[in-house]
Parts: sequence; structure tokens; C-alpha cells
Amino acid sequence: MRTLRDIDQLRSTLREHRQRGQRIALVPTMGNLHAGHLALVACARQHADIVVSSLFVNPMQFGPGEDLDGYPRTFSADQSQLTEAGCDVLFAPAVSALYPNGLDAQTRVHVPVVGKGLCGGSRPGHFDGVSTVVSMLFNLVQPDVACFGEKDYQQLAVIRKLVRDLHMPIEIIGVPIVRATDGLALSSRNGYLSVEERATAPALYRTLCMLRDALERGAAIDESLDQGKAALSEAGFTPDYLELRDASLASVSPATRHAVILAAAKLGPARLIDNITVQLPASE
Ligand code: PAF
Repeated sequence: MRTLRDIDQLRSTLREHRQRGQRIALVPTMGNLHAGHLALVACARQHADIVVSSLFVNPMQFGPGEDLDGYPRTFSADQSQLTEAGCDVLFAPAVSALYPNGLDAQTRVHVPVVGKGLCGGSRPGHFDGVSTVVSMLFNLVQPDVACFGEKDYQQLAVIRKLVRDLHMPIEIIGVPIVRATDGLALSSRNGYLSVEERATAPALYRTLCMLRDALERGAAIDESLDQGKAALSEAGFTPDYLELRDASLASVSPATRHAVILAAAKLGPARLIDNITVQLPASE
């Protein structure tokens, strides 16, 4: 695996692959890799000849008071895992390479509608930061395909819309959530949890499963969500949101069948997110 930090080197390396007619896949990451990221790389391998992974802790997507400084940085371990997983090129630029004029002077990409509410509501500017850096990576790598985790359900929806709206010829693939055996969705932020908090954390997924089962049996939506929030608080979480949306993140209507329950909740120092799909029954 080649590790490149320089934009010109990345472009010339990928130009050679493209000239040979090879398909390129991109897996954007912020590092501190776990089995969820490796599933993205495995998916990328299946869809392309050359797999490029980017590792960049993107300051633009962190709000004031968020965990930019403390975000886990484990470069050598990430490099070894990517090599092992069959990644061909690791692109790990410095902040000054992507944002040479600083964040304030930087052109930003804003994706309306799907970026509103949920994490977009709790983390103002977050999805502009994600959309900007992902657009930049798409321009630099010009992949045929890019893989993103379904754990960040709203992020995936934002990126799908970005690519559609800007007519980028890139196939976006969502990769299913990878969970620990106790159900907790893998996340770099799980590393912030104490031993006790880690033992509590699977209650987030259990609550989502309980809610899904209730809604699929025809339980009332608002009451079920209230019960879910109460269950999370009882377990020790501070719920941020717990919402039912249709699969495209629009509000549910009586006609909605394919829906998703999305949750964000704080547990100690960690803000955890998760989601689960639901098949709503037709009302009588
Ligand atoms: O999901 C992430 O790790 C980040 O939001 C991404 C897509 C790499 C952009 O910085």
C-alpha cells in the first residue's frame, strides 16, 4: 500500500491507474479504524480494481466544543490494518493541504433538506463540513464508486443527494452496520466509554429493536417513541433525538411502509448514534 500526503502525487498515481482502465473505489475515513471501516474496504475491493482510503480528521465537520482535539488518532495502526485489508493507496493529507487558506476562507458545500434536523439539528454546520470534504475527496480521487457506513444514515443520505444534485458520476454504496456481539454499533467514539458505560451502551440498540418490534406490531408511533426515550434515560443515556422517518428521511405518513428509527444519545463523554429499519404495517 502506498501512503500519499500530497495532492499532486495522489492525482498522478491515480491517473496512471485510470489510464490502464482500472476502476477506482474510495473509502473516506477519519482513521481510528475498526471492523466497520474494514467492511467498507472489503466492499470497495469487490467493486473496483484499486482501493483508495482517505484518512483525514476533518476540522470543518466538528462544532465548537466538540471532540476535534481529543478525536483518537492512531495512524500506524490504521496503516497496518489498511495494508492487511488490501487497500492500495492511503491518502492522508495535512489540514493545510486541503484547507490552505484556513476554514473561514474555504468554499463550502451545503446539501439542503436531508441535512436538516436529526444530527444536522444538533450539530449545526456538521453536514456542510462533511459535504465539503467529501466533495473535495471526490474531486481529487475521481472514484467510480465510494463506500460509506449505514450507521451514519443521515450522512449517507446527504452524500447520495450531493452526488445526484451535482451530477457526479460516482456510485455510492451503503454498507451495513457492523455491531459488537452485544449489539453496540462499532464507532471510534465507543473508545470514550468507561468500562461501566461500555456495559450500558448496548441498551441503545436494544431500545431500537424493542421500538421496531412494537411499531411492526402496529403500536402508536408517538407513544412508542416516548417510551423509547424514557427507556434510554432510565438506562443512563441523555437522549438527543429518537425519531421515526421514512427511508429517505422525510416525515412518515400513513402510506409509509419502509421507515427507519434514528437515535442519538449521550452516554458519559460519548455521543452515540444508531438506527434500525422498520416495516410499518398498513393501517386497517
Ligand atoms: O464518516 C466519517 O468518518 C466522516 O464523516 C467522513 C465521511 C470520512 C468525512 O470526514
